[in-house]
Amino acid sequence: MNLNRWKEYDDIITDSLWIFDKRDSSGVHKADYWGNFIPQIPNQLLRRYTKKGEWVLDPFLGSGTTLIECKRLGRNGLGIELNKQVAKATSERVVKEKNNFDVQTEVISGDSGAINIQSLLKKIKVSSFQFLIMHPPYWDIIKFSNNRSDLSNAKSTRDFLGMFRKVADNTFPFLDKGRYCVVVIGDKYSSGEWIPLGFYVMQEMMNKGFKLKSTIIKNFDQTTAKRNQKELWRYRALAGGFYIFKHEYIFLFQK
Ligand SMILES: C[S@@+](CC[C@H](N)C(=O)[O-])C[C@H]1O[C@@H](n2cnc3c(N)ncnc32)[C@H](O)[C@@H]1O
Repeated sequence: MNLNRWKEYDDIITDSLWIFDKRDSSGVHKADYWGNFIPQIPNQLLRRYTKKGEWVLDPFLGSGTTLIECKRLGRNGLGIELNKQVAKATSERVVKEKNNFDVQTEVISGDSGAINIQSLLKKIKVSSFQFLIMHPPYWDIIKFSNNRSDLSNAKSTRDFLGMFRKVADNTFPFLDKGRYCVVVIGDKYSSGEWIPLGFYVMQEMMNKGFKLKSTIIKNFDQTTAKRNQKELWRYRALAGGFYIFKHEYIFLFQK
């Protein structure tokens, strides 16, 4: 962003409450991967925290929303996805997006907690990333695979945080100092109790020395299954004394 022309960026959000009524489904973006985020999330963040030609790392790539936005916005991107079939499908999808800015986009299949990032960087001939975007599983809310390294297979909150920490430790050294890292995550409800996964992860990041710059609340679309059972969920909430999830968090940190 050129701050001398800041008035021209009137679609860049600067408030901490993000409400989107529909997802951007233009180009090769599709909502078919259960658990993907809406393209507006990486779009807003990449435009604000990166410049054209810089490198972005997404260690929980999924269906490649980040890489598609990278291509559209002229950022280079590397994404790591544990599930081989998903990585293959994502690679085929990302390649179909137009590459008007002639950037590089790499889809790697592997465990972000263990993969050798240094050798990946060597392959793309850069020494670091300028932005890190993390959208881990919200523990087991969606089970992404049977792989033991998949965060959605964590046995407990403690185990989940340990696995998140492994990915953090493996990737953080390669983010330039002063640059930004974002974690998109939601909470979980289990055995009559709200588990504040988001806040636990936020604390992990702060323990690593990251400066918390913002906590953004984003509205959360209910799954079709839940929408069809709206009345039932409303009854459950009233009877169980809890509130139905309608939001997730976007935590913004600076290294
Ligand atoms: C919430 S989804 C990310 C969705 C993505 N933002 C998108 O828009 O499609 C989390 C992804 O992390 C992957 N994953 C889980 N554990 C992983 C690990 N240890 N290393 C790499 N990917 C992992 C899952 O397979 C899943 O695709």
